[in-house]
Amino acid sequence: MADTVSKTLLFSTNLQQYIFDTSVYPNEHKQLKELREATFDKYSDKREFSVPVDEGMFLAMVVKLMNAKRTLEIGVFTGYSLLSTALATPDDGQITAIDLDREAYEVGLPFMEKAGVAGKINFVQSDAISGLDELLRDGENEGVFDFVFVDADKPSYLTYHERILKLLRVGGVVAYDNTLWYATVAVDEGSVRDLLRSRTKQEAPEYFIKSRAALIELNRFLASDQRVEISQVSIGDGVTLCRRVR
Ligand SMILES: C[S@@+](CC[C@H](N)C(=O)[O-])C[C@H]1O[C@@H](n2cnc3c(N)ncnc32)[C@H](O)[C@@H]1O
Repeated sequence: MADTVSKTLLFSTNLQQYIFDTSVYPNEHKQLKELREATFDKYSDKREFSVPVDEGMFLAMVVKLMNAKRTLEIGVFTGYSLLSTALATPDDGQITAIDLDREAYEVGLPFMEKAGVAGKINFVQSDAISGLDELLRDGENEGVFDFVFVDADKPSYLTYHERILKLLRVGGVVAYDNTLWYATVAVDEGSVRDLLRSRTKQEAPEYFIKSRAALIELNRFLASDQRVEISQVSIGDGVTLCRRVR
């Protein structure tokens, strides 16, 4: 599916190329470029896993604008988003990164070392919910995180949200990735199945359909969650920024 259904929400490929050529690729950090290339070589079947380069830059900009020091990432893979935000935190930044897959993280680790940011990162190999619960067991972690990026199991995002709000300080931001899910959140389920069948000649994977439903529910929930103010950003596959207000 990765080859036939693009995750970008920009439907003008010329415009997309223009953005990448003009402001994105020329400014991509050397180690990010190398990590991206190494990821594509090793995981050619999972090219869509890493956040797109423009999204990595956007997340880094948010981290810098907030002067975020204490950050958390859920869903690391080889670490493109992790390295993007790690480069944006100050030298004394502290980053907790949770993923089930240590092997993928170790593919990216040499690039984080070369970039001089590996010392800021504490990788926790864990299921996200257990990892969040472990953080919450230590009361000192409550209300101290400045920024959280979530890019793991989509049907679990709402479960993560309740835990993350306890970890975030008031004024802190959690960014949820993939909230527009290949633009399918605006299309009814039957049409999504028809579209994927016509493009890929296969039935839509159940995970895809389940994630779409979960993200629609998340979007509905976040829009009326009084504990946060939100901004839906149409970059990559859709990123929702939620700023904790109470
Ligand atoms: C889309 S990839 C993350 C990509 C990453 N943000 C990047 O830019 O390279 C999703 C990751 O979530 C992890 N993941 C999926 N379900 C998880 C869970 N329940 N707990 C922890 N990690 C999970 C996967 O192992 C995978 O590495």
